[in-house]
Amino acid sequence: MPVKILGINGSARKISGTEYVLKEALEAAKEIDADIKTESISLRNKNIKMCIHCDGCFRKKSLCIVEDDFQDVQKSFLEADGYIFSSPVYNMNVTPVMNAFMSRIRPTYLVFPGHFTPRVGGAIAVGGGRNGGQEMTILAIHNFYQTYEILCCGGSIHEPAGGMVWSGDGSYEGAIKDKAGIEGAQRLGKRVAQTAAFLKFGWEHFKKECKTIYQTENWWEY
Ligand SMILES: Cc1cc2nc3c(=O)[nH]c(=O)nc-3n(C[C@H](O)[C@H](O)[C@H](O)COP(=O)(O)O)c2cc1C
Repeated sequence: MPVKILGINGSARKISGTEYVLKEALEAAKEIDADIKTESISLRNKNIKMCIHCDGCFRKKSLCIVEDDFQDVQKSFLEADGYIFSSPVYNMNVTPVMNAFMSRIRPTYLVFPGHFTPRVGGAIAVGGGRNGGQEMTILAIHNFYQTYEILCCGGSIHEPAGGMVWSGDGSYEGAIKDKAGIEGAQRLGKRVAQTAAFLKFGWEHFKKECKTIYQTENWWEY
C-alpha cells in the first residue's frame, strides 16, 4: 500500500538551504520502504494570499473560496498520509508564505472532518543563528498540526522536536556544512515515514475491525 509523504518548503529563495535539507529528509524517508512515495512542493513564487477571515468557508461549508495557487497545494495536502514542513526561521517563526498556507487550510476541517486524524507531521527549521529560534519555528508548525488533529512526530532522541539546521546565514552553502543538523533532519524523515505507515495500515484495520466506534456519529471527536 503506497504511503505518501508530502514535503513543503517555506523558503522564499531560489537557492535554499531549507529546500536542500527537506530533500535530504524526504530521501531518507524513502529508505524505510519501497512503498514510501514522496512529493515536494516549494511555496516560493506561489501566490498564496493570507486568510482574510471572510468566513466564506463557514457560510458555504466549502473549502477556501479565495482562488489562487493555494488550491494546487491543498490537493496534494489532502492526498498525503504524512507531512514534513521545512521553514527558514523568520523572526523566530515560520515564513509569511508558510503561515499564509497554514491559515488557508482551516476550511478543510469543515468539509472533511476527521480526515487528518490518522495522519502525522514532522517539522524542520533552518536558521541563520545557531540558536536563532529553530525550536520556536518547529513549535509553530506543530501547533498547526495539532490544530487540525495531525499527530506530531519528532526526530530521534538527539532532536526530539524535529530537524534543526544552522546555516550561519550562509544560505545553501552554510546549511550543507551543518552535517549534524542534516543527519537529524534525515532521522526525522525516517520517523515520519515509519509513523505514517503505522497509521495508514492501522487505520485500514481500524475501519474494518472497529466498526462500532467507526460508525458512531462524529467518532473523530472522541
Ligand atoms: C526577515 C528575516 C528574518 C529572519 N529571522 C531570523 C531569526 O529570527 N533567527 C534566525 O536564526 N535567522 C533568521 N533569519 C535568517 C534565515 O533564517 C536564514 O538565512 C536561513 O538560512 C534562510 O534559509 P533559506 O536560504 O533556505 O531561505 C531571518 C531572515 C529573514 C529574511
